[in-house]
Amino acid sequence: MRVILLGAPGSGKGTLGERISRATGFPRISTGDLLRKAVREGTPVGRKAEAVMKAGGLVDDATVTGLVRDRIAAPDCLGGYILDGFPRTVAQAEAVEAIDPARPEVVLDLLVSEDVIVARLDGRRICEACGDVYHIVNKPPKPPSVCDACGGDLVQRPDDAAATVRERLRVYREATAPLQARYRAKGTYRPVDGDGFPEDVYSRAAGVLAGEGCRL
Ligand code: AP5
Repeated sequence: MRVILLGAPGSGKGTLGERISRATGFPRISTGDLLRKAVREGTPVGRKAEAVMKAGGLVDDATVTGLVRDRIAAPDCLGGYILDGFPRTVAQAEAVEAIDPARPEVVLDLLVSEDVIVARLDGRRICEACGDVYHIVNKPPKPPSVCDACGGDLVQRPDDAAATVRERLRVYREATAPLQARYRAKGTYRPVDGDGFPEDVYSRAAGVLAGEGCRL
């Protein structure tokens, strides 16, 4: 199965995707994580993507689709995979269908109000060393500013600055929200209430996936 996590920036795609990955054994493929890794490593893709990401825009379709094509060719994706933050445009949706056409698909769209999104992104902290995600109120680390998992420093993501969040939300409404209609027409669209505790959001999503025949 191909599980697509649609949803605005900060709607909880990464948090939910990790939980689904643990339950299903499907790898979570986050294009944001792949791009941030490329930026950290200073690869040609990373050098191209860095400024666009800092400004809250979208990296070009060919670059992101190339990353996904390579990743889903790996053997751990044979049984299924979770796409987090991809597709974000109609061209990307068409590309993944062309790359892996026979794969059954379910699209979970996490619906969360913009007020909640702003509060989530404002309080999000990321471990510089291992990438673990925290929230200063909803999921605080035990010693402040230090990762529980590896002891690394917790920092704010550069694109979580308020002005960049506004731009990311604008880009989402313009480029990504139209995918809802596309997947509705295709019959794979499943809206999920993304408000409430992470475990409650997971229970709703797990119910949908079980209804699609996914083993959790
Ligand atoms: P990406 O990394 O994909 O960012 P995003 O979609 O903006 O999503 P986020 O990672 O900000 O949020 P999330 O929905 O995963 O929420 P999370 O679980 O962390 O993309 C970054 C950039 O890369 C893009 O702007 C673009 O430039 C580029 N890019 C990526 N993919 C691309 C593509 N396909 N095409 C072109 N460009 C691309 O949760 C947020 C916070 O809330 C956390 O602190 C968490 O602990 C907390 N939280 C989560 N769930 C809950 C809950 N239920 N209750 C309370 N708190 C919660």
